[in-house]
Amino acid sequence: MTMDGKFFGVGVGPGDPELLTVKAVNAIKNSNVIIAPKTEKKEGSVALQIAEPYISDAKIIFQTFPMVKNFEESQEIFQHNANQILECLRAGKNVSFLTLGDPMFFSTYIYVYEILKNSGAQIETISGVPAFLAIASHVGRAAYGNDIVTIIPATAPKEKIVDALKFSDATVLMKVYKNFSEIVELLESENMVENAVLVSRYGLDDEKILHDVKAHQSDKLNYLSTILTRRTK
Ligand SMILES: C[S@@+](CC[C@H](N)C(=O)[O-])C[C@H]1O[C@@H](n2cnc3c(N)ncnc32)[C@H](O)[C@@H]1O
Repeated sequence: MTMDGKFFGVGVGPGDPELLTVKAVNAIKNSNVIIAPKTEKKEGSVALQIAEPYISDAKIIFQTFPMVKNFEESQEIFQHNANQILECLRAGKNVSFLTLGDPMFFSTYIYVYEILKNSGAQIETISGVPAFLAIASHVGRAAYGNDIVTIIPATAPKEKIVDALKFSDATVLMKVYKNFSEIVELLESENMVENAVLVSRYGLDDEKILHDVKAHQSDKLNYLSTILTRRTK
């Protein structure tokens, strides 16, 4: 079956609408349909909120996605959402799927892309500014010379996190909202707690920056929270 519409996976950056690329804005403006992903627990879509200034008369479709711990278990929902996208493409509509940060970096988009890539659809994935890099610039953290910088999802098994911290000069910890207290302990044992900075909801109206993570160890964090740190010795 022919598909005249084009599918764009659009990275909208982490929060500030001025951090979308020109390419991302053009894709959104040239789309008839905007897919706004949201999770089962939340009403709105942060990605949509960020892209809103660039959307005029496109149809907005909210698609609910489960948190992907096990893609196999949630495959039906992904397939259903992919089919809805294919229907739009077959009807000749251009479709932009909005993604927080970069689309190929820890995102729901990856699973939609995996389903659609062999469907015959024309696909263009448009890179976005990943949250950790925007945050690094915002709080003045850098990677120097021969630094080994790791990116660790705090949802990974504890032994793997410890191993990764041991060989890192600096590190980025993502998804720290669930086990923040345990992560602070691990950073302390690796001499990485003093230099830690935690940024929640960067670029959004309720952004928060914490420099003393130890003092806030028992705080409840928002899902959009990232820690940047480096070893003190
Ligand atoms: C599913 S990942 C999405 C990553 C995204 N694709 C990117 O390129 O940054 C979600 C994690 O990204 C980080 N994150 C995304 N947006 C953020 C923001 N505005 N402020 C702080 N952390 C953010 C947090 O660590 C959050 O738990």
